[in-house]
Amino acid sequence: MSESTVCQAGVEQDAMVQNPDPLVLAFCCNWCAYTAADLAGTSRLQYPPFVRIVRFMCTGMIHPNLIIDALTKGADGVIVCGCHPGDCHYIEGNVRMKSRAEAIELMLEDFGLEPERFRLEWVGASEGVKFAHVMRDMTRQIQDLPPSPYRTD
Ligand code: FES
Repeated sequence: MSESTVCQAGVEQDAMVQNPDPLVLAFCCNWCAYTAADLAGTSRLQYPPFVRIVRFMCTGMIHPNLIIDALTKGADGVIVCGCHPGDCHYIEGNVRMKSRAEAIELMLEDFGLEPERFRLEWVGASEGVKFAHVMRDMTRQIQDLPPSPYRTD
């Protein structure tokens, strides 16, 4: 019997993953990443069903506490997706998010969380393929970790 199987989402899933049923939150800006997610959907590109999308108008509106809150209330991973540098519809929201991401990465250790549980990616509105790829990659990375120590189920 093969060590890996292909799940319904078209993702090769290793039978030995530590967390087969993770909760991954994708915080997406409205103008680029959410549009890319929509494009992935209308293009029938598949990504794991463990990803839950939360829409923000801009990544610059995402306070670090929201990410830490999510990770300490049971999310196994959080990925923030915004416009490429220079493309933010609010001029420099994504630049602010980049600075905050560096602070969040430092905070994760204080909460006993692996750095792989948080990621920041730039995904343009026309990049549905990239969006699906990034979600598959993030999910695989989270599945290789044990469930969040903050998970209660
Ligand atoms: S509008 Fe997309 S990151 Fe600001």
